[in-house]
Order: sequence, then C-alpha cells, then structure tokens
Amino acid sequence: MSKFITSSIGKKVVMSLSGLFLMTFLMVHLTVNCFLFAGAEAFNTAAHFMVTNPIIKVVEPILALGFVVHIAWSIWITIQNMMARPVRYNKTNQGKNSSFASRNMFVLGGLVLTFLALHIANFYVKIKFTHEIGAVSYAGVEMHDTYTLVTSLFTIWWYDVIYVIGAILLGYHLSHGFWSAFQTIGFSNQIWRKRLTVIGYIFALVIAGGFAIIPTYFYFVQ
Ligand code: HEM
Repeated sequence: MSKFITSSIGKKVVMSLSGLFLMTFLMVHLTVNCFLFAGAEAFNTAAHFMVTNPIIKVVEPILALGFVVHIAWSIWITIQNMMARPVRYNKTNQGKNSSFASRNMFVLGGLVLTFLALHIANFYVKIKFTHEIGAVSYAGVEMHDTYTLVTSLFTIWWYDVIYVIGAILLGYHLSHGFWSAFQTIGFSNQIWRKRLTVIGYIFALVIAGGFAIIPTYFYFVQ
C-alpha cells in the first residue's frame, strides 16, 4: 500500500481522491451559503445545523486532513517533477497543447490557499476561537449570528474584490482539476474525456460564479 502511494501513479491517485473530496465540500459549502439570499433566519439556521450536526462534526477533521493531504502531495509531486526535469522545456506553442489552468495548477492552488488563509481568519477563527460574533434566537434556540458576520464583511469593497478574485482562481483550478481527477482514477476514455471536460467547465463556472455572486450581491444590496 505504502509502495503504491509513493509511486508516481499512486501520488496522482491521492491528489485526485483528495481533490474530489474537496470538490464535494465546495458543493455543500456553496449550497449552505446560498441560504444567505433567503435572509438572516434561514442562513443562521442552516449554519447552526451544520455546526451542531454530529455527522459534520466527524467530517470536519477529515476535511482538514483532505486539505493537508492535497497540499502536501501537490508540493511533493511538483518538487519531484522539478528534480526530474531541471532544464525547463522550451515554452513556445505550449498553449496549443494544454490549457492555461493545466500548466499553472500549482500556482493557482497556492493562490487559492492564500485566499483560504484569509477566509479562515475572517470567519472560522472569529466563530470558533476569538468569539467575535453576536448571538440570535429563533423559536427559543440560541445560535451564532453568522449572517451579520458575513454580510458586514461584504460591505467593505476590497474584501469583495478579494473574494471575487478568489472565486475566479478557484474556478480556473477546478476547470482542469475536475476532469483530470476523473481521468487519473480511470474514468476517462476518448468519449468521456470530452464529456468530462465540458462537465468540468460547467462545474467550475457554477462554483466560481456562485462564490463570486454572494459578495457582489451583498455589496450592492446593503
Ligand atoms: C461567498 C464566499 C464564501 C462565504 C460567504 C463563506 C462563508 C463561510 C463561513 C461563514 C464559514 C464558517 C462556518 C462555521 O464554522 O460556522 C466558512 C468556513 C470555511 N470556508 Fe467558506 N465561504 C465562502 C467561500 C469559500 C471558498 C471559495 C472556500 C474554498 C476555497 C471556502 C472554504 C472554507 C473552509 C475550508 C471553511 C472551514 C470549514 C467549515 O467551517 O466548514 N469558503 N466559510
């Protein structure tokens, strides 16, 4: 098993499976965030359900592990590729054979990670550690006022710009990562390669568009 994980195909499989797991998280996260459009009570109740649900409590450390594995393996693969190929290929006409995203996955991932560090400081740290969040009560159930925390951040224009850029970078990263992950785990033949490329672009567009619309909407409606 450990031989497989350290082999070059094994490393790609680990990257793909952790990537697919993180994509599932993104779909759930965006779905919960869409409750913001339904108002304070709907979003706070959804966020409260997520933090109190026992299944989510189990999934949270697995999610953190998913991020750590995905990042650590990407660094490992990139270093090994650089060591195997110390002289860089001639870059002329590279764009004809590969997409911008596929050639820049490591850089795009690094930029998404930078965004994520700021994002965790904005919300997660304030909710879980520094407790810079108010409380509300609906039908006798007290919970965090996550709605006010999120929507007040989005009144600051430069945060909105950062969140929109973060969403676009994430979209680029996913546009290649989606079909590449399926290809690595053996899901892709001539026909499915094309289909998965299109589904990947749609998936990337929905995720990037969804995460970008939220800060933009709250900047203009507040
Ligand atoms: C409109 C954009 C976004 C909003 C409004 C938003 C909102 C939030 C909130 C409120 C939390 C804290 C949840 C809690 O602990 O109660 C959170 C956590 C988190 N967000 Fe986001 N998020 C956005 C975009 C993103 C993006 C693009 C990513 C990934 C690249 C991401 C990844 C995470 C992670 C990993 C956590 C910590 C785990 C968790 O609490 O679920 N978020 N987000």
